[in-house]
Amino acid sequence: MKVLVTGAGGQLGRELIHTAPPAVEVRGVRHAELDIGRREDTLVAVCRMGPDVIINAAAYTAVDRAEDEPEVAHAANALGPAHLAEAASETGARLIHVSTDFVFGGSQCRPYRPEDAPEPLSVYGRSKLAGERHVLDAPCAGLVVRTSWVYARGGRNFVNTMLRLMAERDEVRVVADQFGAPTWARGLARALWSLVLGHPDLRGVLHYCDAGSASWYDFAVAIAEEGRASGHLERHAVVRPIPTEAYPLPAPRPRFSVLDASRTWQLLAEQPVHWRVRLRQMFQEPEAR
Ligand SMILES: NC(=O)c1ccc[n+]([C@@H]2O[C@H](COP(=O)([O-])OP(=O)(O)OC[C@H]3O[C@@H](n4cnc5c(N)ncnc54)[C@H](OP(=O)(O)O)[C@@H]3O)[C@@H](O)[C@H]2O)c1
Repeated sequence: MKVLVTGAGGQLGRELIHTAPPAVEVRGVRHAELDIGRREDTLVAVCRMGPDVIINAAAYTAVDRAEDEPEVAHAANALGPAHLAEAASETGARLIHVSTDFVFGGSQCRPYRPEDAPEPLSVYGRSKLAGERHVLDAPCAGLVVRTSWVYARGGRNFVNTMLRLMAERDEVRVVADQFGAPTWARGLARALWSLVLGHPDLRGVLHYCDAGSASWYDFAVAIAEEGRASGHLERHAVVRPIPTEAYPLPAPRPRFSVLDASRTWQLLAEQPVHWRVRLRQMFQEPEAR
């Protein structure tokens, strides 16, 4: 089975290459090799490779910067998936597209189910929702897998930002009234491979995240503790909880964006693993290059 992974230089893309099963011939393309916002380039690249499956891990993920450059976010997150869906429809490939908890508005108090109505608050969230719709509405009718609060060793993410700040400062202030589910990119990558190999006909929307929920503050406290326990952090910094209003950012975030991933865990016959266990595993395992 030939699988094309777009965005192969990102956190998830690297983990997909790292965890690719032996039965799969995987070809990862980085942003510099293929910009999925360019229709012709995307159609040519897909036709040339002729993959059985495309996993789209490419995205514009700078949530705050997107407010200032909506066209760039739209090209990557809305048009990119549309181009991949067109290519998949023409070549008969299956398209698996990764999306985000930020398509939700955050006013709910229970985890969001795949069928709950999206209500994105930001340019990023709106661009990702548009991408989902292109994938679902195309003749190839792809599979959309939404995930949340993704991190990996070596990526641009909250874990590495916290480790850096905690190494530099005596006190780190972190928002304590926004809740989500931290998700280790390696677990997500393995789940995607299980969906590729074990569920070839699955279409529609699924949710995947690690189990449990946390505020950014809870996550930061866990990063400090696990970071010190594993030798990745030497200093002790105080982690102070603050409200969203005390840390204004350009893009509004959902207050609550925990995803209900129960259907996916059931499909994969996977026991849900708590996010804190996954965080500990991440600190213990080697980085994906
Ligand atoms: N990170 C999170 O917390 C999070 C949360 C929920 C959902 N997700 C979703 O999970 C997926 C994977 O995200 P990630 O965390 O792996 O993000 P990431 O580390 O930012 O990786 C995204 C990759 O896509 C590339 N890219 C950007 N624009 C592109 C374009 N037009 N054409 C081709 N490649 C392009 C980026 O390259 P450059 O760096 O060179 O631009 C980067 O290598 C995305 O769909 C994202 O929306 C992420």
